[in-house]
Amino acid sequence: MTPKGLRVSLVPWDKDLSPDTPSPYEDWPDGDREEPRGLGRYLVEVTDAAGIAAVVGMVSWHLERYGPTPGSHAWNIGIGLIEAVRGHGIGSVAQRLLAEWLLDTTYVDRIEASTDVENIGEQRALERAGFTQEGVLRSAQERADGRHDLFGYSFLRDDLDV
Ligand SMILES: CC(C)(COP(=O)(O)OP(=O)(O)OC[C@H]1O[C@@H](n2cnc3c(N)ncnc32)[C@H](O)[C@@H]1OP(=O)(O)O)[C@@H](O)C(=O)NCCC(=O)NCCS
Repeated sequence: MTPKGLRVSLVPWDKDLSPDTPSPYEDWPDGDREEPRGLGRYLVEVTDAAGIAAVVGMVSWHLERYGPTPGSHAWNIGIGLIEAVRGHGIGSVAQRLLAEWLLDTTYVDRIEASTDVENIGEQRALERAGFTQEGVLRSAQERADGRHDLFGYSFLRDDLDV
């Protein structure tokens, strides 16, 4: 799954280093609302064989609750890469790294991701990262261009052993 000759790593979030990752999937009308607790971001960094590193995108996570107790919590993750590096396997590795880090450092057993039913690239990236498609989330997301149907995906702690 690792892109040939490159190492992909997640490094601490820094607003000044955050690249522009233009995408029709990230046009949010209400981005200025207060962020809930349980939300975070990493930058995605790629290092070549000569040790040259470049920030190529970002990943994020927020908490989902399926009940009032911690046993019903899940992390939902998202990603955006700069256009120049898309389609080389970096998105798969970065999302797998984030899922493993969240499982390793928190009590949560379920990692989720969702993407537009039209976003074939992200669907392939999630499946290569080991996520399982669970079904269609009808009209789940409103963005500036209207409401969107999503495919829901999950990666469970038990999936680490598969
Ligand atoms: C989605 C995204 C994170 C995926 O990362 P990536 O590094 O480009 O993805 P990968 O190279 O790991 O895998 C992409 C796979 O989808 C395929 N793919 C990419 N775009 C495609 C398209 N438009 N149609 C069909 N397949 C496509 C690639 O060929 C590859 O297939 P493979 O596994 O058979 O080789 C990245 O493309 C991106 O940032 N896109 C814009 C933002 C976005 O859509 N974010 C997700 C919102 S939910």
